[in-house]
Amino acid sequence: MMETSLFCQVNSIASGPADKAKTHAPVITTQGDIKVGRPFLVNIKVGETMHPMENGHSIQFIDLYSGDIYLSRVDFTQMNIPEVSLSIAFPHEGKRTLRAFSRCNLHGIWEGIKEVNVT
Ligand SMILES: [Fe+2]
Repeated sequence: MMETSLFCQVNSIASGPADKAKTHAPVITTQGDIKVGRPFLVNIKVGETMHPMENGHSIQFIDLYSGDIYLSRVDFTQMNIPEVSLSIAFPHEGKRTLRAFSRCNLHGIWEGIKEVNVT
């Protein structure tokens, strides 16, 4: 059943219902040091526990931002696993906030964040 209140805000582990956060909040991971101009992998998976991907209930996309700057969108069908690795290279040093947004057709948009330092 669609939970309309979840569509009136961006949900997160901090703001959304805990039972839904477990399967909806994106989890961002990176590996190793992040160097200026060097590609690195950002892995994003939807939820600590995998979200269902079935007719009528699925993750439709993941968007990735650095702060307010749009980086990527990946669309999904019911035959995908809602997890993706993206290769990113930052052209400047400094702290960045990676922000991933996932959209469930029944449970709205969810945000996960990870702070990184580009050296
Ligand atoms: Fe859902």
